[in-house]
Amino acid sequence: MTIRLLGVCGSMRANSYSSRLAAIVLAAAREHGAETRLIELNALDLPTYNPDSGSMDHAGLRAVTEAVNWADTFLLASPDYHGSMSGAMKNFLDFYWDEFAGKLFGYVCASHEKGLTVMEHMRTSVRQCYGWSLPYGVSVYGEQDFDSSGQLVSKIADRVRMLARDLVVYGALIRGQFQADLADGITETFAARYSS
Ligand SMILES: Cc1cc2nc3c(=O)[nH]c(=O)nc-3n(C[C@H](O)[C@H](O)[C@H](O)COP(=O)(O)O)c2cc1C
Repeated sequence: MTIRLLGVCGSMRANSYSSRLAAIVLAAAREHGAETRLIELNALDLPTYNPDSGSMDHAGLRAVTEAVNWADTFLLASPDYHGSMSGAMKNFLDFYWDEFAGKLFGYVCASHEKGLTVMEHMRTSVRQCYGWSLPYGVSVYGEQDFDSSGQLVSKIADRVRMLARDLVVYGALIRGQFQADLADGITETFAARYSS
């Protein structure tokens, strides 16, 4: 299958390091045959999620929902804010849950402290929605890990290529099996609860 990979960037900052990192991962994933799209949340001005309002009367929200349903696999990119994801990223996640089930997620982060808790918090949210996660992520200390020409230093670039490859390969396996489980009507799998 051609894997459809959606990158979602949660920085409001122009020229954000986490967004730049996400774009590099997506480019590497295309080399492995993925179709990719990128959502920059700073361009969409999404409303704050409100469970009392089921309204889709917002062009940005409709576009994001269409992209979420299109995606087989996700790459979430966030700045490190107080050791966690940005509010924009969390707000994006709050709009969806069963759309994430049976799909693989990878994580990148811009942080001065490796961003482990940031990626762990995104991983927890995704797990709560029955999404799968790669067991590692990639973080950049933007001011140090991009050189003056905007290239990633080689140590990080190697991890980016690994992340892109694993998202494509494991993403296709997990999505393919989830869809097969749905089609076969197997009851003793978590996919069964999404079959109606
Ligand atoms: C409100 C705020 C909180 C931050 N908290 C942290 C933090 O807890 N740890 C850290 O390493 N960096 C922290 N930073 C620095 C950002 O993570 C860093 O500048 C990062 O490059 C921003 O990502 P971006 O370039 O994608 O916007 C914080 C920055 C802001 C604006």
